[in-house]
Amino acid sequence: MEVLIKNCRIVDETKDIQGDIYIKDGRIVEYGQSIHIDCKTIDATNLVAMPSFIDMHVHFREPGYTYKEDIYTGSMAALKGGYTFVNLMANTDPVCSGMEIVEYVLGRAKELDLIDIHQTVSVTKDFDGKTLDHLHTLDERVKFISDDGKGVQSNLTMFKALLIARDRDLTVIAHEEDEEIVDIDTRLSENIMTMRDIYLSGLTGARLHLAHVSTKESIEEIRKAKKEGIRVTCEVTPHHIALYDNDYRVNPPIREREDVRALVQGIVDGTVDVIATDHAPHSEEDKEKGAPGISGLETAFSLVYTNLVKRGSISLNRLSQLMSASPGKLMGLNKGRIKKGYDGDIVLIDLDKKIIIDKESFISKGKNTPFNGVEVYGEIIATIRRGQVKYNGGVNIDNR
Ligand code: NCD
Repeated sequence: MEVLIKNCRIVDETKDIQGDIYIKDGRIVEYGQSIHIDCKTIDATNLVAMPSFIDMHVHFREPGYTYKEDIYTGSMAALKGGYTFVNLMANTDPVCSGMEIVEYVLGRAKELDLIDIHQTVSVTKDFDGKTLDHLHTLDERVKFISDDGKGVQSNLTMFKALLIARDRDLTVIAHEEDEEIVDIDTRLSENIMTMRDIYLSGLTGARLHLAHVSTKESIEEIRKAKKEGIRVTCEVTPHHIALYDNDYRVNPPIREREDVRALVQGIVDGTVDVIATDHAPHSEEDKEKGAPGISGLETAFSLVYTNLVKRGSISLNRLSQLMSASPGKLMGLNKGRIKKGYDGDIVLIDLDKKIIIDKESFISKGKNTPFNGVEVYGEIIATIRRGQVKYNGGVNIDNR
């Protein structure tokens, strides 16, 4: 299986050149000026080719809440957003606390053959806040553990979990929310847990990845921790960059202008490693009842591109690093760069295309977005996984 992507602007974390990309047997074989091979050809004139995106924080709701999203609709939404890899969280029903659900999810992904998936396992069994025995039964397919959606409240449990994570080469993805404090002060609730976990990561030597960081204080703590050599990484969501002083319900909440400034500064200076969507689809009814979350996969790129690149805060190279190269590296994938030998996972984008976000056009079952009607730039035209076009929003293919 061969494919040649012709006449594009090729951008990844280190390069920005004009040329073609040749993919064979699922891998990038060559890229550069005027490659001539007689095979299936995709005309990418006036489009940018970037490594497809990798999302470290996604909820597909299967098993248990498939009325909100399932692995098929979630995967289709991911492709429309330019993603070919997602990391799924464990807050399903039942909670993903062992290999049985991991195997089910990975099996389903294989059967669908749309995107690649990693399934995170809960830190505490069934989110009970204390039991850790199941962590000893996980095999090498599991790289991340997280009680995302809840957070590990007990200091002792988190300490023990980090020790196990260190010994078993797992990364803990931390949802920083102190349940007792959150109702009176959501900022303190995030900050105090962030500080605790950075301290515990330093103490144990375990890898810690902080999910959806939203406050200026947390960013500053992470900056200091990195300088001290603590093994901490973090992600920021598109909505926490694009919005402030907005009461659309999401966890953590939309913060203030000063926080957005600090997040952007963290993105500029390298404190922030990754942009992750925290794609959290809900039904209209659940949303009316107060379910927190934003359906984010289909709007992520255009929001980040419009708010960060078009405004001049970062380059397209840095955006590619945040959405592809860094998450690819953190997850140990052969994806995230346009380089010989890497997976032929490419997204073709029309950067100049103006879009009015329309939730009714979402493929995701979750139409919950605060961005409906918002004008952004950058349309995903096609998403290619290992050389196969998995989403085509209007690119010409010559099959020969
Ligand atoms: C998450 C969800 O819906 O699963 N929602 C969200 O607002 N981020 C869970 C959570 O983190 O609260």
